[in-house]
Amino acid sequence: YYCCCFCCRYSCFIVVIIIINIIIQSWPPLAAAWRVLALLLGLKGACVLLASALSGASAANSSGRWWGIVNVASSANLLTNTKNVQLALDPSLSLLSRRQRRLIRQNPGILHAIAAGLHTAIKECKWQFRNRRWNCPTSHTPTVFGKIVNRGCRETAFVFAITSAGVTHAVARSCSEGSIETCTCDYRRRGPGGPDWHWGGCSDNVDFGRVFGRDFVDSSERGRDLRYLTNLHNNEAGRITVAAEMRQECKCHGMSGSCTVRTCWMRLPSFRAVGDVLKDRFDGASRVVYANKGSNRASHRADPRHLQPENPAHKLPSSRDLVYFEKSPNFCSYNGKTGTQGTSGRTCNSSSPALDGCELLCCGRGYKTHVEKVTERCHCTFHWCCHVSCLNCTSTQTLHQCL
Ligand SMILES: *[C@@H]1O[C@H](CO)[C@@H](O)[C@H](O)[C@H]1NC(C)=O
Ligand SMILES: *[C@@H]1O[C@H](CO)[C@@H](O)[C@H](O)[C@H]1NC(C)=O
Ligand SMILES: *[C@@H]1O[C@H](CO)[C@@H](O)[C@H](O)[C@H]1NC(C)=O
Repeated sequence: YYCCCFCCRYSCFIVVIIIINIIIQSWPPLAAAWRVLALLLGLKGACVLLASALSGASAANSSGRWWGIVNVASSANLLTNTKNVQLALDPSLSLLSRRQRRLIRQNPGILHAIAAGLHTAIKECKWQFRNRRWNCPTSHTPTVFGKIVNRGCRETAFVFAITSAGVTHAVARSCSEGSIETCTCDYRRRGPGGPDWHWGGCSDNVDFGRVFGRDFVDSSERGRDLRYLTNLHNNEAGRITVAAEMRQECKCHGMSGSCTVRTCWMRLPSFRAVGDVLKDRFDGASRVVYANKGSNRASHRADPRHLQPENPAHKLPSSRDLVYFEKSPNFCSYNGKTGTQGTSGRTCNSSSPALDGCELLCCGRGYKTHVEKVTERCHCTFHWCCHVSCLNCTSTQTLHQCL
């Protein structure tokens, strides 16, 4: 019945078109107007096609575009409003793909966690690299980390890993704090865990954080090439590090703290611990190449087996290792093309032989020294009740700055 009706309508439609066409063809001025209209429609179609091709080309560099939402987080909007309703209008959200926006709509409260996680990750990146030539510079532009993300060096690897870890960490914690509507504590660990303890309490939901991170963060990456595989590998390494650093915490029960029974749960590591591990992995990162080994043309997913160590004598990088495929620039001087800012003006330590020492940090260009007066509050005394009074102490500090 439905089919028949559908066919009827369809043939009706065709008949109407044919009649219109006959009318148009039979009256020349109308036919001319029709042709012009068709031409214009055709042009518009071509324009649409061209525009989508152009946006497709810029989407090829969509790596980490979601980092742009960190600028949302700095607007008071986000901090006061954990619902996503108003945020849907925020321009930074246009940096997200349709899939990412859908994930945010489906998980009310999660945007706040993502943005907070990204903030934490950026702070940690800056802290871990504070003494190096590349000190994790960021800007308020949508790309946040600048051109380094379009490269494939160790620093790129770290940026991908730490931001991915930041999302997994923040989402897992927000689940157990109850600020995301679609997840809770991880209650799957139940029952006895050992002779004198059992699972209980609220474990941080790192599994939700990992699955969400894979959905959300990885969907910024496109392609099937070495860059794509490398970015995905480092994203996953970040998530694995968060999960691997989970620690068991316990609480004692029993008569007057006798601890005859303990309840335990799994707790996320501090983000500093995650940063420390990832920094170690940065130092030991593996350089990889794209190898066509075991390729399967029918497969549409990029195959991680294509990542092979550049030096065949080295072992395959594990899923926790960071990987890169390009030598780092030396980060010494400003270069607009590679987007490096250089170390000119950076504060260095004249007595350190390490990377933060003036010799290495300033790349041998030398440094200037100036003495600064620093005024600090000192000799503070507490007065009952309730204020603190301090003296102002002035000291001098010698600062060295790279030329
Ligand atoms: C896109 O990425 C490539 C590296 O794959 C880079 O050479 C190019 O400059 C990037 N384009 C833009 C507009 O960022
Ligand atoms: C400078 O380096 C020396 C030697 O590594 C270290 O003892 C000192 O604390 C450093 N000074 C600052 C301000 O970091
Ligand atoms: C210390 O300095 C601040 C301003 O820098 C000033 O307001 C305050 O009065 C000073 N305190 C004393 C005890 O001089």
